[in-house]
Amino acid sequence: MSDLRTELVALLEPFEGQKGATLDALKAVQGKYGYIPEEAIAVVAERLGVSRNTVFGVITYYEFLKREPPARHTIRYCVGTTCDALGGREVLAEISAILGIRMFEATPDGQWHLDRLPCFGTCSLAPLMQIDEEAYTHLTVEKVRQIFREQLPGEPAPIAGDGMPAPTAQLVRELEA
Ligand code: FES
Repeated sequence: MSDLRTELVALLEPFEGQKGATLDALKAVQGKYGYIPEEAIAVVAERLGVSRNTVFGVITYYEFLKREPPARHTIRYCVGTTCDALGGREVLAEISAILGIRMFEATPDGQWHLDRLPCFGTCSLAPLMQIDEEAYTHLTVEKVRQIFREQLPGEPAPIAGDGMPAPTAQLVRELEA
């Protein structure tokens, strides 16, 4: 039995045989690992007594359940009506272009993951997003270029050519061009 499987079996013990507890079991898995490892699908199905398709269906239904490991930085972008009306769509397109990813995707180097929220409840600050724990408000295309160049949370501004994984280095080169 793999280490991961052993851990999962122990983690899922409170849910054993409870067919209606699939979501709670998956939340427990994601709470421990930050995402749903592939092997967990089979183990959840087995321990709860449901099909793998059922487990997979729950994972795909709930956006907050992730099948990929969390990236180093998570961007939560507001796609609410006010943000959208105030230019949020153009700003989001710029972020996508800069990072080379679409909504719900992560960069291949594991640095960035793009996620969305329906509304932060602070529409007077629209358009806005959160990177990790930092909020960025009144966004414009120019402002997001500045943010990705100069204000990465918790680290100094990245410098191209210092050994960064390719997508990040390319991002910096594009911004400095
Ligand atoms: S619509 Fe974006 S904060 Fe409300």
